[in-house]
Formats: sequence, C-alpha cells, structure tokens
Amino acid sequence: MKKNINESSILIVLFDHANLGIFLMKKFIMSSAIYLISAIISPVMAAGDAFAGKGKSAVCAACHGSDGNSSSYMFPKLAGQNEYYIVKQLLDFKSGARKNTTMSSIVTSISTNDMADLGAYYASKKVTLDTVPDKLLESGQKIYRAGNKESGLPACMSCHGPTGAGMPAAKWPALSGQFSKYVELQLKKFSNGTRSNDPNNMMGDIAKRMTFDEIKAVSAYVAALH
Ligand code: HEC
Ligand code: HEC
Repeated sequence: MKKNINESSILIVLFDHANLGIFLMKKFIMSSAIYLISAIISPVMAAGDAFAGKGKSAVCAACHGSDGNSSSYMFPKLAGQNEYYIVKQLLDFKSGARKNTTMSSIVTSISTNDMADLGAYYASKKVTLDTVPDKLLESGQKIYRAGNKESGLPACMSCHGPTGAGMPAAKWPALSGQFSKYVELQLKKFSNGTRSNDPNNMMGDIAKRMTFDEIKAVSAYVAALH
C-alpha cells in the first residue's frame, strides 16, 4: 500500500512542475518507468533491521558520528537519510560506480544484508540542522523551489521533496540538514563528471546548468531545510 502512495507521488511531482526541461522530463519519465518496472518484477528488497545496524555501525562512527551526525563536512551526515539510498551508495562504492578510496575499502567486507541494517539504523536517526545565512536564504529557496527558467534548471524540490526528505522508494536522497560544503562538493563533482553514479546522468545535467553562486546559495539553504 505504502509503495502505491510513493509511486503516485512520483507521478504527481512529475506533472506538477512544468519547468522541468523537456529532456530532463524524458529522463525523469524513463527512470520512473524503470523504477516502476523493477518494483513489479524484482522481489521487494528486504528491509534492514535498525537495531542490528546500530551494532554494525561502530566502524562508521569515527567519521560519520555515532548517530550519523558527523562532526566535519568532509564526512556526509547519514542521519535521516533513507535506507535505500544508503544501500545504493554502498553498493556503488563496492562496484566502483562511485569513486572514493576511503569508502571503497570500507565496503569490501560489508554484505548487502549489513548495508540494509546500517541504512535502516541511520534512517531512524534525526539529522541536526544548520542555519542558513540571511543573505543566501531567498536565493537558495528560490532555486530549491522553482529552479531557474532561463537556464532550464529544474526545481530541486521536485525530486528531493519540499522539506528535503528525498524520495525513499526511488532511492532519491534526503538533503535536509546536510553540510553545505559537502553539498557544494557533490554538485561540483556531478558537474565535472568525477561523480557519475546518478541514474541517467540526472544530477550531472542539473549541476552543469548551475552557476557558482547558485550552487553556494542552494547548498546553504538545504543545510537548514526541514
Ligand atoms: C575513515 C572515514 C570513513 C569511515 C570509517 C566511513 N566513511 Fe562513509 N564516507 C566517508 C567519506 C569521506 C565519504 C564521502 C565520499 C565522497 O565525497 O564522495 C563517505 C560517504 C558515505 C556515504 C555516501 C553518503 C551520501 O550522502 O551520498 C555513505 C552511505 C557512507 N559513507 C556510509 C558509511 C558506512 C555505513 C560506514 C561504516 C560501515 C562508513 N561510511 C564508514 C568516510 C568514511
Ligand atoms: C530529476 C530529479 C532530480 C532533481 C530535479 C534534482 N535532483 Fe539531486 N539527485 C537526484 C538523484 C536521483 C540523486 C542520487 C544519485 C545517486 O544515486 O547517487 C541526487 C543526488 C543529489 C545530491 C547528492 C546527495 C548526497 O548525499 O551525496 C545532491 C547534493 C543533490 N542531488 C542536489 C540537488 C540540487 C541542489 C538540486 C536542484 C538544483 C537537485 N539535486 C535536483 C535527482 C534529482
């Protein structure tokens, strides 16, 4: 039942935001279709056990904090992130689809079952929020909610949700509370192609349309968004 609600909310979002560029729209439809098909043909992924995940998270705590709220922007916050996105990233580090020397060596010894438990644990935690500087609030909010029509930049909200909670069923990440510096860095990586594990180059196309100032503003905005 829950799955149906999520699926239809993807479609509502899809038709709600007319300013998604035509080709982004195509990617979006394609990936929604892939998601819907895979949801139908593949068995539902076993949900992780948050309690078991807590026990397995000791090795992660040094960098990501004991509750997933890390103390440095160099290590992304995992608290409040959705389980399926976390599992996808860990699998991507393992396969090499997402490149990071530290994370790649850590995941070699982690099974898919452990990944689900770890994901469930972090998803159950609450992310700590930062504050957004006054001068970036308005511009950051505008990009997040409406994008930029001139450059064909779609609203972040249409995929990452109005409160930045992401879209768990589609494995689309939460951005709420994430360090602004980490968000900036990932946008730059998507833009220059050093991160390319996004389905259909969705984020690559988006990040390339952003100016330096837009990246700065929206990154500051999501750190406080909830
Ligand atoms: C030595 C430090 C370190 C340890 C220990 C560590 N990580 Fe990481 N982790 C990182 C860094 C650095 C990144 C950011 C990689 C990048 O910039 O692309 C990261 C990224 C991630 C991401 C991607 C988050 C996102 O928002 O996309 C996940 C998920 C993750 N780590 C989970 C884990 C888990 C689970 C463990 C424990 C099994 C763990 N990490 C242990 C340093 C660490
Ligand atoms: C068409 C849907 C879509 C739109 C619109 C979108 N994103 Fe994304 N975004 C994604 C997907 C999907 C991923 C996950 C890629 C992956 O699987 O690694 C992602 C990942 C990210 C990440 C990496 C998160 C992490 O924890 O590492 C950041 C940062 C991000 N998006 C920021 C933005 C911003 C800012 C905007 C608006 C300018 C935006 N996104 C608009 C779909 C979208």
